[in-house]
Amino acid sequence: MRFLVLGGTAWLGGQVATAALARGHEVSCLARGTSGSPPDGAALVRADRDDAEAYDLVGRTDWDVVVDVARQPGHVRRATEALHDRCGRYVFVSSLNVYADHATPGADESAALLPPLGGDVMENMETYGEAKVACEQHVLGAFGQDRVLVARAGLIGGPGDVSGRTGYWPLRLARPASGDGQVLVPDIGDHATQVLDVRDLAAWLVDAGASGTAGAFNATGETVPFAAHLDAARTVADHHGALVTAPEDWLTEHDVQPWMGPRSLPLWLPEPEYAGFADRDNSAARAAGLTLRPLEETLADVLEWELAEGADRSRGAGLTRAEEGELLEDYAQEQPRDPRRRSTAP
Ligand SMILES: NC(=O)c1ccc[n+]([C@@H]2O[C@H](COP(=O)([O-])OP(=O)(O)OC[C@H]3O[C@@H](n4cnc5c(N)ncnc54)[C@H](OP(=O)(O)O)[C@@H]3O)[C@@H](O)[C@H]2O)c1
Repeated sequence: MRFLVLGGTAWLGGQVATAALARGHEVSCLARGTSGSPPDGAALVRADRDDAEAYDLVGRTDWDVVVDVARQPGHVRRATEALHDRCGRYVFVSSLNVYADHATPGADESAALLPPLGGDVMENMETYGEAKVACEQHVLGAFGQDRVLVARAGLIGGPGDVSGRTGYWPLRLARPASGDGQVLVPDIGDHATQVLDVRDLAAWLVDAGASGTAGAFNATGETVPFAAHLDAARTVADHHGALVTAPEDWLTEHDVQPWMGPRSLPLWLPEPEYAGFADRDNSAARAAGLTLRPLEETLADVLEWELAEGADRSRGAGLTRAEEGELLEDYAQEQPRDPRRRSTAP
C-alpha cells in the first residue's frame, strides 16, 4: 500500500514510517525536515504545513493511508481539504487530552470531549486538548466516519522518548543520586499508570490503517499501579537500594512538580482530579488489534536508550541528581520530626 505520513521526521511518526516499511508498504513523509530525517527507505517531501501550498505535490498522487501526527488545527484542515479525494483512509494521532474529565477511572471513548479550539493556530500547550478536538473534527468532516481512525494516545514510552517521562524511573534506579542507592519516590503506590510502547502504537496505526479500521479509540498501555511500575523498573535497572517514599504534600512543599518538566517526578498525577488520566479503558483498541508488549521490555529498552544518550544530560522530566540528592538530605533531616514520613526498604 502507499502510505503518506504527515510528519515522520520525529519520534512516533518515524516509528510509523519504520513499521510501514517493515510490512512492505511504500512510504513518503511530508515535513520540513527540521526535526530530523525519515527512516531509510521512506521518501521525504519537504513542505511547511503553515503554507497554503504545502500539499500541492502530495495532492497529485493517490494514497491508501495517510497518518497524521499534527497538533495544529490549521495543518489538519488544509491537509484534509487537499487529500480527501486522493486518499483512502486517514489515521489521526490524537490524545487523551481531548477529554473534558480526567477524574473518572475506566472511562471509554464515549466520555465528553473539550470544546474544539476555534481558528487554525494553537498558540500554546494550554489548549492542546482543544486543538486536538478541532483536528479530529476536521478529519471527520472531510473524510466521514467510515474512513477515519482516531487514536487518542495516552503516555507514549520507550526508546526515543525525549520528554524524559518513561525513561526517568529506570534511569534513576540504574544510576541513583545517592551513594547508598536510595531513590526518592512519591507516595502514590496505588495510583494508576499507563505507558504505551511507541513501537506497539506505530505497528497498530499501520495495521489498523491498512485494514480500514474506523472509529475513535483510546490507545493506551496496560493499567499498572505505580508501585508495580516501579517494581518493573527496579528489575530492569537491577536496583537494590531503598525507595524513600515521600508524601505528595511534602514534595509539593519542596517545589517538586508532578508528571513532567523541570524538577518533576514523572508518572505522578495528583488525585482525585487526574485519577482517570492514566486509567482509561483501552479495550476497544485491543479488540481492534492493539497489541501490548510487556512493560519490562519497554523499560529495559528505554533504559538502554537513556544510557546511550547520556545519563546526566539535561532532560525533559525528572529531578537532576543534584536536586534529588538535596531532597533526600532534606527528607532525612525532617523525617524524625514527623513519624508519618518514612523510608521503605525494598
Ligand atoms: N508523547 C506522548 O506521550 C503523546 C501522548 C499522546 C499523544 N501524543 C501525540 O503523538 C504524536 C507524536 O508525534 P511525533 O513524535 O512523530 O511528532 P512530534 O514530535 O509532535 O513532531 C511533529 C512532526 O510534525 C512535523 N511538523 C511540525 N511542524 C510542521 C510544519 N509546520 N510543517 C511540516 N511538518 C511539520 C515535524 O517535522 P519537521 O520539524 O521536520 O517539519 C515532525 O515530524 C503527536 O500527535 C502527539 O500529539 C503524544
